[in-house]
Amino acid sequence: MSSALPKLDALDLETLRQRKSEKWGTYPRSILPAWVAEMDYPLAASIDRVLRDAVERGDVGYPIAPNDTGLREVFAARMEDRFGWAPDPRDVEILSDVVQGMTLAVERFSDPGDGVVVQTPIYPPFLGAVRETRRRLDENVLVDGPNGYEIDFDALAAGTDERTRILLFCNPHNPTGRVFTRAELERLAELALERDWVVVTDEIHGDLVYPGGEHIPFATLAPEVAKRTVTLTSATKAFNIPGLRCACAHFGSSELRRRFNAPPKHVRGGLGYLGLYATAAAWSEGQPWLDHVLAYLEGNRDFLAGFVAERFPGAVHTPPQSTYLAWVDFRPLALPESPFRFFYDRAQVAISDGRAFGASGEGYGRINFATSRPLLTRILEAMARALEER
Ligand SMILES: Cc1ncc(COP(=O)(O)O)c(C=O)c1O
Repeated sequence: MSSALPKLDALDLETLRQRKSEKWGTYPRSILPAWVAEMDYPLAASIDRVLRDAVERGDVGYPIAPNDTGLREVFAARMEDRFGWAPDPRDVEILSDVVQGMTLAVERFSDPGDGVVVQTPIYPPFLGAVRETRRRLDENVLVDGPNGYEIDFDALAAGTDERTRILLFCNPHNPTGRVFTRAELERLAELALERDWVVVTDEIHGDLVYPGGEHIPFATLAPEVAKRTVTLTSATKAFNIPGLRCACAHFGSSELRRRFNAPPKHVRGGLGYLGLYATAAAWSEGQPWLDHVLAYLEGNRDFLAGFVAERFPGAVHTPPQSTYLAWVDFRPLALPESPFRFFYDRAQVAISDGRAFGASGEGYGRINFATSRPLLTRILEAMARALEER
């Protein structure tokens, strides 16, 4: 292992507590945070260098036009290298974040009252994107199957109609961590073609897939599928730089891109210089760091699954195929309050409240395991004790 790779087992709690980002800055210091999707690890060396160099030069002026930074080419090269997808850089727009892209896409590709398909439980901003644009939520609840959480295609066909305009898809899926198979993606694509849906696919977790899984970009399924697909991604999850605000949107047709770009340019706001160059550094030079982190996360994932099976008797958990988030069904334990409230009050641990992921998340909790093994152990031990003492 190169000395440039961080020691992930040796994170210092006091240093983490000084972070001002959402994960560490929201709750009092007595609470151990295991909620929002931020990782506790040190930055990749390539990102660290770009940021330090900029600060040393006092180089935080206006960025040059995002399209001239070379980031679109870096994005295309990364997609080809990682997923065998060779998008044309000219079909890429640079955005400030993925949620901006999904919200704007819903707004631009449908009208108020139109249906938007979402596989729930889901990362809460998907629900916000539908609600805030006054679209109809065509909820497609994931069901238990041999692969863990699976798409219920019968319910999907039955729960949509001629007013359904968009499939707002999340692959890999947050919070379940499912990496959908080619067969599943093809069935969805077939339906999208048959029903003339625009597919807006959030693939931000595509770089966080564990061995055994394969991330298949939706746009690679077939040329006619690509034409109706908008792909959203960024380096912010896998490389843990969400505060730097930068994402990419790829449009499968110039018509989709034209409609997306119709609002006045400044409505989207400007992009920060640091995010643009940190993203390029992550994608072009950060892979050794990511390989190292992913191997560690896989160990945490397996440790957590074993711990839940042994120490949270009755809780149901399918280890995620991607992401550093564990989705746990606490309903069989009949806790006296929501899992979030229960563990917050009795274990001083903040997990994500399942209810925020839609009605089908009621009674669930999402645990972020992207921390050191000692801290994860401390979090899980505190949760287990709270269960034992109830
Ligand atoms: C599925 C998914 N999409 C988007 C985001 C956020 O992306 P951004 O910060 O670029 O809006 C997250 C963050 O956790 C996520 O899990």
